[in-house]
Amino acid sequence: MKNTAKSDPAAPVREVNVPKDWNPESWKNFPALQQANYPDREALDAALKKLASLPPLVTSWEILSLRDQIAEAQAGKRFVLQGGDCAESFEECCSPLITNRLKVLLQMSLALIHGLQMPVVRIGRFAGQYAKPRSSDLETRDGVTLPSYRGDIVNAFEFKEATRIPDPQRLLQAHAYSAMTMNFVRSLVDGGFADLHHTEYWELGWLDHSPLADEFQKLTESLGQSLRFMETITGRDVGSLRRVDFFTSHEALHLHYEQAQTRQVPRQWGWFNLGTHFPWIGMRTADLDGAHVEYFRGIRNPLGIKVGPGMDRDWLSGLLEILNPDREAGRIVLIHRMGEEKIDEYLPPLIRAVADTGSPVLWLCDPMHGNTESTGDGIKTRRFRKILGEMELAFEIHLANNSRLGGLHLELTGENVTECTGGARDLSDEDLKRDYKSTVDPRLNYEQSLEMAMLIVRKHRQGI
Ligand code: PEP
Ligand code: CO
Repeated sequence: MKNTAKSDPAAPVREVNVPKDWNPESWKNFPALQQANYPDREALDAALKKLASLPPLVTSWEILSLRDQIAEAQAGKRFVLQGGDCAESFEECCSPLITNRLKVLLQMSLALIHGLQMPVVRIGRFAGQYAKPRSSDLETRDGVTLPSYRGDIVNAFEFKEATRIPDPQRLLQAHAYSAMTMNFVRSLVDGGFADLHHTEYWELGWLDHSPLADEFQKLTESLGQSLRFMETITGRDVGSLRRVDFFTSHEALHLHYEQAQTRQVPRQWGWFNLGTHFPWIGMRTADLDGAHVEYFRGIRNPLGIKVGPGMDRDWLSGLLEILNPDREAGRIVLIHRMGEEKIDEYLPPLIRAVADTGSPVLWLCDPMHGNTESTGDGIKTRRFRKILGEMELAFEIHLANNSRLGGLHLELTGENVTECTGGARDLSDEDLKRDYKSTVDPRLNYEQSLEMAMLIVRKHRQGI
């Protein structure tokens, strides 16, 4: 049905078709993969009851505003930047890490706005990215077998029985840490980043190490000039943001947690997941008749779907049919993560399959998850040139197939960790040992992230 309303708190009701035979618990009638096994069911029920009574983290009008912005991105009028840690941890819910992560995302977005000449929708992978899918339920070390670490929302990484048993109290902690993160991000967005538009304060020491130093120097200067020019003519600080200029996302994997955040609101139809603006569904849990797809079908948030080489045309078309039966704009974002070596073969048939459905989608490229490898020493890493390579190919493949790449999905941090190799400083396998912090996937560091944004701008200028 047509959306006519503007997304603000006074927006009139948007009439939509509410899915039949659905309620926030109906997922329980379907096989649910990747769920924690809680030995104490009573404690779980008590925690969920409490969780369901706590205030939500986001509002329905912010969610609808994001839907509108995604619809505009689908129409080629916006570009999306989604990024953050592979997994957040309770321990890392602290001021400098949150500030630096937000800073790098905002700086990247300014480079992209300037370079692509287009507004950028910023979506953080945080304030709820606490649950991780695992290849096995159990982990064995030195003859001892314990439940796998499923993210801080379920258990602790430390390999001890007491910390690996799923603990329902962690659901409440995850909500609290998400709320703290959200609160701090909102405060920063509201006023803490006034100097963001002064590129002279950016940390750009790495530029000197880049083979493109001169070109990047010029780009940074022209970015600074154009931001100052905009400020002069509009009288407004371009670095300033409004609340709806930053959104959050996480993989909606832990269905009990997501259900407890799923609410109805006055004056809007249907149900919203008020724990995040933009939940996504991983491919491991995207079975057409699985519990996750059942859950996602009923909420009105925009939805991300991860698409890997194992997904075929029928599966993807089936997902679109179930998750967006009315072919609404702004509803579906497909995040492909093929790997640099596979994207050429696997993406084009899926682009065609989606076009055949007539369902509007926004395509994002996640160039991280298809390019994970291990060094000789067994350290999990990703090569900067492969990440960039997949992204460049993604732009070209969409163009050649009458489609458009509408954004990026990156795992990154604002710290100068050494987890991915390459980049301007040409980090080696040996460098990975210096400052490797991730317990899950390797992330681009501050410098590599900014460099990636500038390389995308460069590619764009070459006419992708
Ligand atoms: C992730 O985004 O952290 C992730 C697990 O991705 P994927 O499901 O695409 O492997
Ligand atoms: Co990851």
